Order: sequence, then C-alpha cells, then structure tokens
Amino acid sequence: MNWKGRDVISIRDFSKSDIEFVLKVAERLEEELKEKGPLEYARGKILATLFFEPSTRTRLSFESAMHRLGGSVIGFSSASSTSVKKGESLADTIKTVEQYSDVIIIRHPMEGAARLAAEVAEIPVINAGDGSNQHPTQTLLDLYTIKHAFGRIDGLTIGLLGDLKYGRTVHSLAEALAFYDVELYLISPELLRMPRHIIEELREKITIHETTDLEGTIPKLDVLYVTRIQRERFPDEEEYLRVKGSYQVNLEVLKNAKESLRIMHPLPRVDEIHPEVDRTEHALYFRQVFSGVPVRMALLGLTLGVL
Ligand code: NCD
Repeated sequence: MNWKGRDVISIRDFSKSDIEFVLKVAERLEEELKEKGPLEYARGKILATLFFEPSTRTRLSFESAMHRLGGSVIGFSSASSTSVKKGESLADTIKTVEQYSDVIIIRHPMEGAARLAAEVAEIPVINAGDGSNQHPTQTLLDLYTIKHAFGRIDGLTIGLLGDLKYGRTVHSLAEALAFYDVELYLISPELLRMPRHIIEELREKITIHETTDLEGTIPKLDVLYVTRIQRERFPDEEEYLRVKGSYQVNLEVLKNAKESLRIMHPLPRVDEIHPEVDRTEHALYFRQVFSGVPVRMALLGLTLGVL
C-alpha cells in the first residue's frame, strides 16, 4: 500500500494489514526516539491543525508528534478566531490552509466534515474526530496500547462501556477490533446502545454481547474501555439527564475483576472512573495518552511520504 498522500478519514478505509503496518512503524519510531531523541524525518514539512471542537490530547499529541519528527506546526484550536466566523465555507478554509501546509488534521462537530475536507484538498487530510462518527487515529493508538500491555490483541475479552451511541472513539474501535479474534461486551444504558448498523457489521465477524450490567460483566474482561457520556451530542438535555452518571468504575466495582484487567479511556473523564482507580495496576489510561505520540508520528511520516 502506498501511504504517501493518503487520507485517514475512517477506520473502514483500512485493512487489517494497514493497521498492523502503522502499529509496527509506531513501535519502530518509539524505539528510535528513545535511542536518538528528536528525529528529523519531517524537516521542512508543515502540519496544519484545524480544530473546530475542543481538544487537549489529540491536538497536542499531533503537534508533539510533528515536532518530534523535526517538522513544524500551524493551526487554530477554535473556529471562533477564524474567518469561519465571517461565513467562510469549510471548502474555502481547506483550500486556503493547503497553500500553507503539507498535511491537515481536522476535528469538526459535523459527521462527514473530514471526508469533505479530504475531497477538496490535494494534500493528505487526517480526521481527528467528526461528530459522533469516527476517530480513527484514537483507535490506532488504542490498539497500540493494548498490544503494548498484552503483547497481542487476539484472544482478549474486551468491554466497551458508556456512551456507545454518540462516542466516536468506540465506533472506530469496535470496527477495528472486528479484524481480530476478540469477544466484545457492549455495556451501556439502553438509551446509549451502539448504533444498529455497527452491531450488524460486528456480528458477522466476532462474538458480541450487549448488556447494561457492568458489575456482572467485569470478571470476564481483560480490557475495560470506558467512555464519557457525550453531553454535547445529545439533541435533548432531558435525555442526557436520564443517563448522566449511569456508571462509575471505582474500587468497589472492581473487586471481582481479574488482576490482569486493564482499564482504558480516551479521556477526558468526567465521573466515570473514580480517581482512586488511578493508583491501581488496572489503570492504563495515562500510558494510552503516551501512545498518541508514536502512533501519530507514524501516521504523519507515512502520509507525508518521509518514512
Ligand atoms: C475523545 C473525542 O474527542 O472523541 N477524546 C479524545 O480524542 N481523546 C473522547 C471524548 O471527548 O469523550
């Protein structure tokens, strides 16, 4: 597969061997960084980060990744300071930014915005989250984290917990996990079940169970992937209030967990993991944050064609 110039919009655009390849390159870069310090592969290249929605980890880890590759970064972290405020279209913004940069990272509240940007731009576009739809780079770093912790993905029993309806991270992740030999527990309130079309696709490939019962499911799990209820995506505040605080992972809930259970979360968390869990061996979410840098270095280097 030729990576140079490739867009990264949906995990569906990837084959299993594409995914494995990115993870391998990321591993190599992590080693190289450890041995040599900052690298030079992207010297002279410019990354543009266009964030139309709030972000801490995704934007900063892309920026950090680009700096560690020797490249530089321009961008904005809020649309309110740009000409979008004056009524400029997304297509015009993209056509402008591509005159200044070599690769574009976009996060946008509208589903499909990243795909549109990729159609307009000649340079590679990477989706950093489009509405409730997809977050493919988060998925790659999630898989990288699981591989690092367990040495494999095959054979694991994985629970996805929380807002499976509006959470884009779990949509991408579930689709990617279907490439592996995993058993999946989808744990959510009734109102926040995984969309039907994703469930149907998963059922054809792997064993999945839908449940509302966290405590009964925990003892079976190797990985528990927790998500925040995506308040900003609810069309109706009433609906949010009905599911708010549905689950909290705390020491009490974890008393029947396997010792080897690892807990992940794309972050930010609100109240769904109690901070007392942070100091247990179960907590993997800060190592997961770290994985963002090598994985995004790999994606940048490959799409720029400098690796
Ligand atoms: C997630 C996102 O933006 O979808 N955050 C992230 O990128 N790590 C999860 C969330 O906002 O809940």
